[in-house]
Amino acid sequence: MQIFNIHFGLKTLSSCAWQKTKNMLETTIAKIQDFAGKEVQLKGWVYNKRESGKIIFLQLRDGSGFIQGVVVKSEVSEKTFENAVKATMESSVVMTGTAREDKRAPSGFEILVFNLELIQVAEDYPITKKEHGPDFLLDHRHLWLRSKRQWAIQRVRNDLILGIYDFLHREGFIKIDAPIFTPNACEGTTTLFEVDYFGNKAYLSQSGQLYLEAAIFAHGKVFDFGPTFRAEKSKTRRHLTEFWMMDAEMAFYDWKDNIDFQEKLIVQLVQRVLRNCQQEMKILERDTKSLEKIKAPFMRLTYVEALEMLRKLGSDIKEGEDFGNDDETMLTQAHEKPIFVSHFPHRIKAFYMSVDETGKYVLCNDLLAPEGYGEIIGGGQRETDLKKLLAMVKKHNLPQKAFEWYLDLRRYGSVTHSGFGLGLERLVAWVCGLPHVRETIPFPRMLERMTP
Ligand code: 4AD
Ligand code: MG
Repeated sequence: MQIFNIHFGLKTLSSCAWQKTKNMLETTIAKIQDFAGKEVQLKGWVYNKRESGKIIFLQLRDGSGFIQGVVVKSEVSEKTFENAVKATMESSVVMTGTAREDKRAPSGFEILVFNLELIQVAEDYPITKKEHGPDFLLDHRHLWLRSKRQWAIQRVRNDLILGIYDFLHREGFIKIDAPIFTPNACEGTTTLFEVDYFGNKAYLSQSGQLYLEAAIFAHGKVFDFGPTFRAEKSKTRRHLTEFWMMDAEMAFYDWKDNIDFQEKLIVQLVQRVLRNCQQEMKILERDTKSLEKIKAPFMRLTYVEALEMLRKLGSDIKEGEDFGNDDETMLTQAHEKPIFVSHFPHRIKAFYMSVDETGKYVLCNDLLAPEGYGEIIGGGQRETDLKKLLAMVKKHNLPQKAFEWYLDLRRYGSVTHSGFGLGLERLVAWVCGLPHVRETIPFPRMLERMTP
């Protein structure tokens, strides 16, 4: 009862008043600095515990952060100490105590506990301090999400999502929600997930691009942000079968305007994370110095120039071939900043790309992230000419009927336009410095994993 007296000068409280006061005292770890020397109530989970004689140290997490609670036997009721003894890892608790400044603590505070309630005493928690293999952890992904590193990754992901929305809205974009069920293959027919749509064939979207192209004629600059699907049979550290992509599409932008815009976006996103996610970067032990170097201008190479560079680095890639994972790693390990590679061979790229004056290459670009991360963006200028586009639909063996609506866009007010798709998971992997994209998404879907 001591807490109520201090805060509100009340000697006795009815149950209704108690409820009200209780709510007013409640805070979160993230806001603890506003309560220095004051009594607070935190609701959360025990993520670690250490006992030293008559003192129990409870590490508490509440979703907003982490803090240590100190329970001293001589200072608390028997019940509270008993609860602290009983509290297992991941038990849910309500902790009440004084927020005391402690410079050594990551949050700058610790809680001198005077009351501890147990909500549920957790059973033996399967994820312990010992090393667990990736399969074990992925099988327990529903629990693994609670771990400090995983917590930090999702926070960075969230900040990047907010950053993308914020940047695009400031740049005058409208969000257009592209459909997930589609009759159109946007990125080739080899990675399509087919579904039965009431007796007809439909596919899960590989990218919202084609629909965004329709929307630029209504809004000028548009973007989407949603799950996209690729039946990728490859087991690499860069591929998921379900991933989140932000597609942007802009009327009256050529391929160069498109590249400039991507550069601006990436620089601002990295700066934002460095500003907003210092705690997370520390938890992830991310070398932020390498991120501080992400400033314009990025290196710009054509495919042919990149090929030369790759050969010098030891790759046996041949003219006309697409970059493999190893090529991307090799090319970007040698650089501190992202690299744009433009003008890929026409033959290896999607049907909608605009061809350059040689007729051999397309006005596209990939953006490769440094430190060996590789492609995070794919984009380019779109073919605007109806005849050329129709020829490409045929060449790629795409069903013309399903693409008639798309061809209409070249019949009515066709203009130069460009766009790109940013893969969120690959961006998060790079920014967080992770070896594999599987940790960047809450519940990864890969060739051999669809659970939990
Ligand atoms: O390069 P992609 O295939 O480009 C498109 O889909 C275009 N239609 C986008 C556009 O112009 N609007 O994919 C874009 C990005 C890649 O650069 C990569 O970051 C990510 O999506 N990506 C994947 N991420 C995880 N797993 C996969 N299997 C991915 N495939 C592509
Ligand atoms: Mg690509």
